[in-house]
Amino acid sequence: MSHLDDLPSTPGKYKTDKALPYGILHHHRYLRLSKPTLWASLFLALFLFYLLLSPPPTPSRRNLNDSPSSLSAKYGGSQWEKQVRKSAHPRSPGGLTVLVTGAAGFVGTHVSIALRRRGDGVLGLDNFNKYYDPKLKRARQGLLERSGVFVVEGDINDAVLLKKLFDVVLFTHVMHLAAQAGVRYAMQNPGSYVNSNIAGFVNLLEVSKSANPQPAVVWASSSSVYGLNTKVPFSEKDRTDHPASLYAATKKAGEGIAHTYNHIYGLSLTGLRFFTVYGPWGRPDMAYFFFTKDILKGKTITVFESPDKGSVARDFTYIDDIVKGCLGALDTAEKSTGSGGKKKGPAMFRIYNLGNTSPVPVTKLVKILEKLLKMKAKKKVMPLPRNGDVEFTHANITLAQSEIGYKPAVDLETGLKKFVKWYMGFYSKKKSSW
Ligand SMILES: NC(=O)c1ccc[n+]([C@@H]2O[C@H](COP(=O)([O-])OP(=O)(O)OC[C@H]3O[C@@H](n4cnc5c(N)ncnc54)[C@H](O)[C@@H]3O)[C@@H](O)[C@H]2O)c1
Repeated sequence: MSHLDDLPSTPGKYKTDKALPYGILHHHRYLRLSKPTLWASLFLALFLFYLLLSPPPTPSRRNLNDSPSSLSAKYGGSQWEKQVRKSAHPRSPGGLTVLVTGAAGFVGTHVSIALRRRGDGVLGLDNFNKYYDPKLKRARQGLLERSGVFVVEGDINDAVLLKKLFDVVLFTHVMHLAAQAGVRYAMQNPGSYVNSNIAGFVNLLEVSKSANPQPAVVWASSSSVYGLNTKVPFSEKDRTDHPASLYAATKKAGEGIAHTYNHIYGLSLTGLRFFTVYGPWGRPDMAYFFFTKDILKGKTITVFESPDKGSVARDFTYIDDIVKGCLGALDTAEKSTGSGGKKKGPAMFRIYNLGNTSPVPVTKLVKILEKLLKMKAKKKVMPLPRNGDVEFTHANITLAQSEIGYKPAVDLETGLKKFVKWYMGFYSKKKSSW
């Protein structure tokens, strides 16, 4: 009934001056019509009425939070399903079958390749949005394809696409890495954070909880949830009530939302709070990346200092360590207990810090880059603006160490050496404008 009530009225339709003659005319014609013609006309009218009321087929399969690229998502057909099944099929006996969202992203690419290498089945999903150079995402996609990972181009908000993927493949696990990342961009485009990190996450959990069997879900939260906390190192037991950015607030909301789906539907959920991840194939919006680019170009870089004139510090964590943490979380995740949207018993809910435990001042990061690039940086020191960044991050990783075997092994200098080597190779080959 409600959709009938929502029909907009047509202005002028009930004006008696014009309606009367037409009404009379139709009345006469009606009297002259034969019975079969009358029924046929009635059916036709009903059919047209139904068409008018039905929502158009394309938008109906998505929710209201579509991003533009999801509108171009191409999927379906036997060839497509074959590709999906092949990619998701584990090569080793007992291997996992994992849906990796955000697969063309920095962390997603590394995790997908690592899973595939050890024989798990992996299907990627990414909307290839333009938050940063999509050419880099496409290059990562090429790398994934060469490793046997197919990436479906689509949005986590597209419920029909997600359901279709779960129909075609019985995923044992979801590694959810798709998100709107970055702290400062939230002041320009707040909606993108709500769209991907909240609405998209809910959509993914909705489809996961209804799947039969339900997958175990491991997802990326962030160290940013610790916000303005001053007690260091940051522990999972600490409160996370003072986010400093909308990004942090959406990640914090994600943790609450995940807990709800665990509680109501028996979904096995593990949240990983990553601490400033860096490395080859990294993200151009992160300081280590754009400092490298600008130092090489001879451009001035801005280095922020805290109000007490101290350097801003980050617990930089190398990508290979993060990948090991993700795999450890997937391997130790217990099965979800529900099926088809019904909880059958309590399920696992975990949150872990994945950091390096040794914060490094950004001034030291610059010194290492100068050494590796053999160039002096032109620096401008500025007070840290209040646009979302925090002064320092420092992880306590005791819990991840004992429960998922997480043990970071790469120091910043070693990791940056690998990043710089990749950067020089990638951008000299690409001859791009970077
Ligand atoms: N890199 C870090 O330092 C860091 C730190 C803390 C948390 N994280 C979290 O880790 C995850 C991975 O981060 P990353 O550094 O690889 O970022 P990234 O931006 O490189 O990867 C995210 C990928 O998700 C895709 N994506 C975004 N919204 C989507 C949507 N609605 N539907 C489908 N795909 C979508 C993007 O196209 C991108 O390829 C994110 O959740 C991020 O918030 C990263």
